[in-house]
Amino acid sequence: MSATCTIPQIEPWINEAEMRELRRVIDSTFLVEHDLTREFEGMIAHVTGSKYAIAVCNGTLAIFVCLKALGIGPGDEVIVPNLTFIATANAVLLAGATPVLCEIREDTFCLDVSRAGELLTERTRAVLPVHLYGQSADAIAIGEFARRHDLKVIEDAAQGVGVKFAGRHVGTFGESGVLSFYGNKTITCGEGGVILTHDDELARAVYRLKNHGRDQKGLFIHDSIGFNFAFTDLQAAVGIAQLKKLPAILGRKREIHDRYLDELQDLEEFRPVFVDPRCEPVFWFTSFLCGEVEELSSFLRGQGIQTRRFFYPLHQQPCYADRKIVRGMDADFRISEAVYRQGISLPSSYRLNAEEQSFVIGQIRRFYAGRV
Ligand SMILES: Cc1ncc(COP(=O)(O)O)c(C=O)c1O
Repeated sequence: MSATCTIPQIEPWINEAEMRELRRVIDSTFLVEHDLTREFEGMIAHVTGSKYAIAVCNGTLAIFVCLKALGIGPGDEVIVPNLTFIATANAVLLAGATPVLCEIREDTFCLDVSRAGELLTERTRAVLPVHLYGQSADAIAIGEFARRHDLKVIEDAAQGVGVKFAGRHVGTFGESGVLSFYGNKTITCGEGGVILTHDDELARAVYRLKNHGRDQKGLFIHDSIGFNFAFTDLQAAVGIAQLKKLPAILGRKREIHDRYLDELQDLEEFRPVFVDPRCEPVFWFTSFLCGEVEELSSFLRGQGIQTRRFFYPLHQQPCYADRKIVRGMDADFRISEAVYRQGISLPSSYRLNAEEQSFVIGQIRRFYAGRV
C-alpha cells in the first residue's frame, strides 16, 4: 500500500440498495415525509423495541423537541456529561434551559451519575446521559437517580443504534431517547434523527412540535405552537436500505475492532477502551487511549490514514467561555481532560478492507517502534 492512499476514519456503505429504495420515492413523487417515513419509523421501533419512533430532520433538533415536549425550558437545568459532541448541550440551550456539566466515568467515558447528586438544585429537571462511542451509560443507575429526585431522563443515543444495555436498546430506558443518522453514524440517512418513547402523551406532543402544532397534516387550525422538523421520504428510503444492512455492518465493525485489539494488544502505550460487561456495544468507532495522540495522528495522516480525536470537554469550549450560559464550568474535570488528551479513533468503516487495516496496524506499530 502506498503512502499516498487515503483511508478514511469513517465512511458510509452506500450502493445499489439505497438507489433501489430511492427509486420507489421518485416513482411515488412523494419526496416529503410520507409512507416511507412511516415504514422507516416502524423498522426503528422494531429494532429498538420502542413503542414509538418519530423521525425528525436531525439528532440535535430531536433532543430539543424532547426537552420542549417535556416542558423543559427557561429557568430549568439539565445535567449533561462534560465529554460529548457539543450538540447535546446546545440542544439544551436552544430549549432555553441551562446545561449543567457532570464529570464522566474513567472507564466508559459516559456520565458519572455518582457525581450528579452534587449538581442538583431546585431547578434541576432532567438528566441527559450520552451513550458515547457505541457504548452505554449506566442507564439503570441513571434511571434510579432520576426517580429518586423526580427528574426526567432524555437519553442521547445519537451514536447508539444497535447498542444494548442489560438486554435493552439504549434510548428506551428514559422518558425519551434520541438516535442520529448523520453521515458518520453506524447507519445514515445523510441527516436525520429519531425520537424514541413508550409514552403516548409524549409521542403526541413530539409529533405536534415537529408538525406545526397539529396532529395531522392538512389541518389549518393549530391548538398548540409547533414548527417544521419534518423528515423526508428521500431520507427514509436511504434509511430503510441502511437498516437492512445493519446486522452486516455491526458484524463487520466487530471484526475490525477485534482485529485491532488482537494485533495491537502488545503495545503498552495503546490501551483499548473498557466495555461495561452489561453493555452490548457497537464498535461504531474503534477507539484507544494512548500517549502522544497528536504526534501519532499527524504521523498517520502523513501515511494517508485519517484518525479522529475525542470530543473536546465542554468546560473548555471557547463558545461557553463567558461562563454565563452553562453551569458547572469550574468543577474538577480531570477525567474528561485526560480522556480527551489520550483518545484516538481509528479507521472503522464497514468498507475498510483487510489490506487497509493491515496497513493501519503496521503504521501504528512503526510509529511506536520509532519511539523506543
Ligand atoms: C452525542 C451526539 N449528540 C448529538 C448529535 C447530534 O446529531 P445530529 O448530527 O443528527 O444533529 C451527535 C452527532 O452528530 C452526537 O454524536
